[in-house]
Amino acid sequence: MRSFMYVNPHIYDTFIRVLYFDGLKILKKIVGVKKSVFEAACGYGRLQKYIDPSCTYTGIDLNEKFVEFGRKKNRDIRVGNVLDVNQYHDSDVILLADILHHLTVKDSGKLLAIAVRFAREKILIIEPAFVKIGAQNNLFSRMIGKIMKWLDADGFNEIEKWLSRDEYDAFFKSLKEANNIREMRITHFRRHHFVEMIV
Ligand SMILES: C[S@@+](CC[C@H](N)C(=O)[O-])C[C@H]1O[C@@H](n2cnc3c(N)ncnc32)[C@H](O)[C@@H]1O
Repeated sequence: MRSFMYVNPHIYDTFIRVLYFDGLKILKKIVGVKKSVFEAACGYGRLQKYIDPSCTYTGIDLNEKFVEFGRKKNRDIRVGNVLDVNQYHDSDVILLADILHHLTVKDSGKLLAIAVRFAREKILIIEPAFVKIGAQNNLFSRMIGKIMKWLDADGFNEIEKWLSRDEYDAFFKSLKEANNIREMRITHFRRHHFVEMIV
């Protein structure tokens, strides 16, 4: 199933602007200057405008409409599956924004393993922290969780579950350990987790 958000990039854009508000302003600092950035599951490449103009930005996504929309805005993005290693190229920063919660735990592990192969400096994961509201085991949470799954259905995956902050911390730690990541820094900013995995 695909929610209306993923049918029309304008609708997605409106929703996501409200959800993030100014939450991406720290991206410029985390990514740095003169970096090559490759975003796996880039949507229509909206994150390009939050990184320094001296950086190069490329990306892949499975949503053809989103990719077409981004390409009309001169973004260097194309259709591709994040689990297909042939779609990647070496980059200073591999960006994984709002994709892990769409994938199964197994596929998230595969994605990280691929990202590690192509990241020269770091992998930057961005995940929503506000979804913890759907992670509790009570009637209200389960209801909200279902609505969020319906809204966030990208048409390619079925969201398995929403994670609490502790569950996210454990998940990030398991990804770090499984991939021999040298260092991990987690910043909690404006209802989002920003996880830098330094390779
Ligand atoms: C929540 S959106 C995030 C888009 C973008 N990163 C952003 O922050 O605006 C999730 C995206 O993942 C894409 N996606 C899901 N599974 C994918 C896969 N296996 N390969 C490529 N893209 C995928 C969807 O098409 C959707 O555009």
